[in-house]
Amino acid sequence: VISGAKNAAVAILPATLLIDGVCTIENVPNISDIKISCEILKKLGAKITWQDEHTITIDTTNITTTKAPLDLTSKFRASYYIIGAMLSRKGEVEVGMPGGCKLGARPIDQHIKGFEALGANVTIEHGAVLVEAESLKAANIFFDVVSVGATINVMIAATMAEGTTVLENVAKEPHVVDVANFLNSMGADIKGAGTDVIRIKGVNELVGCNYSVIPDQIEAGTFMIAAAATKGDVTITNIIPKHLESISAKLIEMGAIVKEGDDSVRVTVDNELRGVNVKTAPYPGFPTDVQQPMSVLLSITKGRSLVTESIWENRHKHTDELKKMGAMIKVEGRTAIIDGVEKLEGAKVIATDLRAGAAMVIAGLIANGETEIVDIEHIDRGYPHIEEKFRSLGADIRRVVR
Ligand code: UD1
Repeated sequence: VISGAKNAAVAILPATLLIDGVCTIENVPNISDIKISCEILKKLGAKITWQDEHTITIDTTNITTTKAPLDLTSKFRASYYIIGAMLSRKGEVEVGMPGGCKLGARPIDQHIKGFEALGANVTIEHGAVLVEAESLKAANIFFDVVSVGATINVMIAATMAEGTTVLENVAKEPHVVDVANFLNSMGADIKGAGTDVIRIKGVNELVGCNYSVIPDQIEAGTFMIAAAATKGDVTITNIIPKHLESISAKLIEMGAIVKEGDDSVRVTVDNELRGVNVKTAPYPGFPTDVQQPMSVLLSITKGRSLVTESIWENRHKHTDELKKMGAMIKVEGRTAIIDGVEKLEGAKVIATDLRAGAAMVIAGLIANGETEIVDIEHIDRGYPHIEEKFRSLGADIRRVVR
């Protein structure tokens, strides 16, 4: 059963700062990035109540400071959403330079361009980002690169700006649409999310709401790939099949059987899979966040596969770990050239980042013998109960507390 989408939830939680009131968010994934988000919201003055493991009530009536703790905000990437929300609510905000997985340069120039177009002043000094504005005014903004974070952040900031903001060349990921739907549930007037152009008509006020986060496309994709890699028969539920089309198409191209239900997908394999080429791209293209798990599957798939990473400059670090397990991979620039081997061998490997960690779990499942993965705190940032979910499918996997 797939959990709520990390990349939607990490934006929706800070977006509750837009209002002076109460929101209840359901289907929140139980991951460490959410726990840190809650800690940051609390430090700003919000009251957080967990109704159950997946439902949070956030009361943002008393926001007491505009300075988000630098140590917490610099721990993960999505802390940048505090900027959009607090800028709109309070006209000023200070956060630590956003952290997150080390995938190469991760600039925020497009966020800054958007905030400045809305009338804000942005200063970056001593590892902190300071943004302030007397008032926000609508603008036409054409993003230079397709950025999930910049699209969502500027959309959040513009919800109550005076006039109609038009964002062009925006990201179309399911989580962008989900955040827009959440903002509209609070009374925002946002049209076009999921297309190349988003129009945001500024409203005077937003109010609290109840909202349920969409299922996690990336967690679902990870389990689909694990099913194919282990030649299993796995039905993945609580998903939106449309969000998984690029992954389903690639698995089918390899020879796997993918059957879609209304809110489920079943992945089985009944013959030898073929190597394929994969190139990551913004939605609806093949998601960069599923690239690392996919390269594990390709490492044991007959023939040569080319995996080209077009979003992040350094997202092949996991291939060094896979090579320790016997994979035949050569990285040239942004492309990993993978020659499928019969079997991987268990080894001690490192979860070099979040999705690389999930990739190592799949590698461990298909390898001969035992695999030990260290630095698993990366995995906990984005996969709720990963070992329990895999154990329920028959995997021999355990967390060793040291
Ligand atoms: C989000 C996801 C991350 C995913 C990525 C791409 C969250 C919390 N994280 O990250 O899991 O891998 O989308 O789908 O949602 N860029 C700029 N300037 C900017 C912003 C981005 O040049 O101001 C570039 C980046 O360097 C990258 C590309 O745009 O090459 C896409 O980045 P972006 O979509 O912004 O990624 P994130 O929002 O950081």
